Amino acid sequence: MTLRPILTVPDPVLKQRSKPVTEVTDETRKLMDDMLETMYAAPGIGLAAVQIGVPLNIIVMDLAKEDDEPKPQYFINPEILDLVEEQKPYEEGCLSVPDVYDEIDRSARVKIRYLDYHGKEITEWAEGLYAVCIQHEMDHLNGVLFIDYLSRLKRNRAVKKVQKAEKLKEAG
Ligand code: NI
Repeated sequence: MTLRPILTVPDPVLKQRSKPVTEVTDETRKLMDDMLETMYAAPGIGLAAVQIGVPLNIIVMDLAKEDDEPKPQYFINPEILDLVEEQKPYEEGCLSVPDVYDEIDRSARVKIRYLDYHGKEITEWAEGLYAVCIQHEMDHLNGVLFIDYLSRLKRNRAVKKVQKAEKLKEAG
């Protein structure tokens, strides 16, 4: 497995729309293994392929609590089939917008369909943190970031904060 660099705002690749995976192969699984390792190392709880510069409809996630066994989840070509009107706020963050957190409202429950690690089709309802995370990650596949829901002022401030931190990193 290989750690891949995570793109941060304002990288234009993050605004790109990802494409469906046509066939689940060993290459797809290798990409998902790399994504999971990259996500764990960050550390984060969700990562979309576009965040490592691969614009394909693939997401990895692990919502297990810190002291519990890892519980990796893989989503290929996820779709939202249904959702409830009820919205819930959650303080979100994103590996592509490091050290920025803000409250976002999203549907409390969503019905999703996707292919798993082995290419098997799964349909299920997601709720709680699972619902928050899958909606956040699926936004990435459409080139949407959680800061896009904030005011322009807050969004610009977030991007500047990330750029400044990146520059400091580069300067060592
Ligand atoms: Ni994100």
